[in-house]
Amino acid sequence: MAYKLGDVILSRETIARRVKEMAEQIAKDNGTENNLTFVGILTGAAFFLTDLVREMPENMDVKVDFMSVASYGDGTESSGVVRIFHDLKSSIEGKNVIVVEDIVDSGLTLSHLLGLLQNRNPASLKVCVLLDKYERRKTEVKVDYCGFRIPDKFVVGYGLDYAGKWRHLKDIKYVVEE
Ligand code: PRP
Repeated sequence: MAYKLGDVILSRETIARRVKEMAEQIAKDNGTENNLTFVGILTGAAFFLTDLVREMPENMDVKVDFMSVASYGDGTESSGVVRIFHDLKSSIEGKNVIVVEDIVDSGLTLSHLLGLLQNRNPASLKVCVLLDKYERRKTEVKVDYCGFRIPDKFVVGYGLDYAGKWRHLKDIKYVVEE
């Protein structure tokens, strides 16, 4: 089956406004005395994370690190068993960590990943996701900051891909059948 881009679900302006609000909330909750390490989960979340951290106040101690993981599965569904391709550069022991994801779907990836990161003894561990496909949840996962709850439809852009395509779009759009 062939697919093409459909309507915009979230425009670049809507995304930018929400990202700013989320950054303000995170700053308010954490205060300037708290070091914050934002951990982006590659690849999709890189786009969201870089916009999010640039909205954080200048006087906050903000660090950025990335992990690359993939969950074993059949291609469309994740199994929840996460394989690490690229680990964090720095230790998170004693740090206030915010895991940044572009989307939470079944919740399996995040749930496994949080278990793995918790074992490294951070001072705190929070989750910030741009999109929540809540209807598809298979396991409960604690989301501290959520940008938008979206329906169970294929969406691409702003980091999200379909078979490796369309990550670079500025707006988030539906993917529809040709
Ligand atoms: C997406 C997303 C999460 C995961 C969510 O990553 O960034 O890591 O899927 O799915 P789940 O809640 O069902 O576990 P993806 O595997 O598409 O990798 P990518 O960011 O490199 O595109």
